[in-house]
Amino acid sequence: MCGIVGYIGDKLAQPVLFNCLARLEYRGYDSCGIALKGSRLRVYKDVGGVKELERTAPLLEGTAGIGHNRWATHGEPSQANAHPHCDCSGNIAVVHNGIISNFQQLRQQLTAEGHRFASQTDTEVIPHLIEKYYQGNLEAAVIMVLGDIKGSYAIIALVVGEDKLVVARKGSPLIIGLGDRDNLVASDVTAVLDYTDRVIYLEDGDIGVITANSVRVTNGGTEVSRQESRVRWMVEDAQKGGYEHFMLKEIHEQPRVIRDTLIGWGSLAESAVDLAAMCREAESMVMLACGTSYHAALIGKHIVEELIGIRVRAEPASEFNYCHPVLAKTAAMVITQSGETADTLKATQKLKAAGCKVLAITNVMGSSASRLADYTVYTRAGPEIGVAATKSFMAQLMVLYCLMLSSTDAKASRLADLMAGVRQLPEKAQQVLNNESRIEEYAHHLSGYDNAFFIGRGVNFPIALEGALKLKEISYIHAEGYAAGELKHGPFALLRKETPVIAILAHDNTYEAMLSNIKEVKARQSPVIALVEEGDKTVGKLADYVITVPQVAPLFSPVVNTVALQLLAYYAARERGCPIDTPRNLAKSVTVE
Ligand code: M6R
Repeated sequence: MCGIVGYIGDKLAQPVLFNCLARLEYRGYDSCGIALKGSRLRVYKDVGGVKELERTAPLLEGTAGIGHNRWATHGEPSQANAHPHCDCSGNIAVVHNGIISNFQQLRQQLTAEGHRFASQTDTEVIPHLIEKYYQGNLEAAVIMVLGDIKGSYAIIALVVGEDKLVVARKGSPLIIGLGDRDNLVASDVTAVLDYTDRVIYLEDGDIGVITANSVRVTNGGTEVSRQESRVRWMVEDAQKGGYEHFMLKEIHEQPRVIRDTLIGWGSLAESAVDLAAMCREAESMVMLACGTSYHAALIGKHIVEELIGIRVRAEPASEFNYCHPVLAKTAAMVITQSGETADTLKATQKLKAAGCKVLAITNVMGSSASRLADYTVYTRAGPEIGVAATKSFMAQLMVLYCLMLSSTDAKASRLADLMAGVRQLPEKAQQVLNNESRIEEYAHHLSGYDNAFFIGRGVNFPIALEGALKLKEISYIHAEGYAAGELKHGPFALLRKETPVIAILAHDNTYEAMLSNIKEVKARQSPVIALVEEGDKTVGKLADYVITVPQVAPLFSPVVNTVALQLLAYYAARERGCPIDTPRNLAKSVTVE
């Protein structure tokens, strides 16, 4: 959602803030701003991206400051609604990520007390409340404000006259980056990687007082010690590394991600012990997630049902939260790249309240999901900056394969085949990437259409959903993923020459049915792009275009098919001149319901 950052130290704060904001831009990018504390407070903010703001900003003095990338929730993207927000005196500035749910009531009270508001945001009540309570001690004022506000927040506040940043966290992520003669605060670690790899992950309820050379954290009025962690991610991981877009770089990193997961299998196997115990005690399993991670859950359902043999319900976390009583004897898994998706966290809480043991699969160390869950497995994707999930999805699939292969009691011969197959996946994914220029040609063709369907069956039905999601979110071509057998139950009405259908096939028990579906589609004049394994002699005679992927066991076909469809979406979006890494209206981590 929004990204927040703070700096206090011996450097000029402005360039540091802009640099950190640029690294956090994927969290929100409709407007941004900074506030610098010199002899007085100076605020500079506007709609648009960080680079634009940096180009137009005057040099603002000060070695302490705060910054914000906004993804609008309350009030349209505008200069007035951009953060930081200030009090009436202009001496207090605040950046905030989250939602203050009782802001309207607070705003009315404050207005009646004489405070004047300049924006439509929920956030603006915070600096006004600080102003109301401030008596020369920012920390004390913030503590009083936290007693008034409801909702979720990560906040950084500063005031002219005190050499400190005061931060608070509840329900939105916040980390402190520890420097030598300076300290930083940010929504996530990617923001501070240029300056330090030493971080503290704050917990809900924490209030931090940060100066250039000290960090003090309290929770519930008591001083607490929060452990310092070393970040494994390198600054290069969060740079484009010569690629035109982060998304393309991240697609190309997937053979490495697969390999890293396999190398780390040993530590995954320990989690598999927990998982196996969970499954033994459970009668069923539920897998919950949102967006692309939900598609990983749908594939996870196939993997678990095939390899473990228990029934799995895979559902969008956002829906699960409003239906179904949770059965106590349910093993639960939540999947979330960011570990901060509000719906997934709410589902985790619901599961825990019902007495379920929850295993979280997440990419972000110290994320909220990892704190809530009973067990956590970290994916080895490295930081993913492109808003479209690519390598994080691949890393989720790999964790699911490895966990289930470690827990299965499949026959030895079958297991040996699967183990051999999974070890070849880095090379197989690379082979798809080697075919990039051919896929680019098909993407060029696809980019001329306004609507498309993706169809698949079995373990490749979720891949149809994911292929469509990737295409629509970055190219703005309207795309629907469908179970191939369902197309004739309504969507057929939309098929015509201008509606291409991308058919995803695997050589499993769905193959013959898929061939029939392709024929039905062709009979309605729709062009068909088929994704099929090398050596297939049949599909080429039916489809208009054929993209081949290397042969793998059908259970692993989502891996190679995913890479091909990511490239298809990427090049279609590039052809259409879309802002691939920052698609309109989207944010990397969705921390509101
Ligand atoms: O961080 P999460 O995995 O929980 O995010 C869930 C979705 O918001 C996310 O997968 C989204 O659908 C993708 N960015 C789309 O590419």
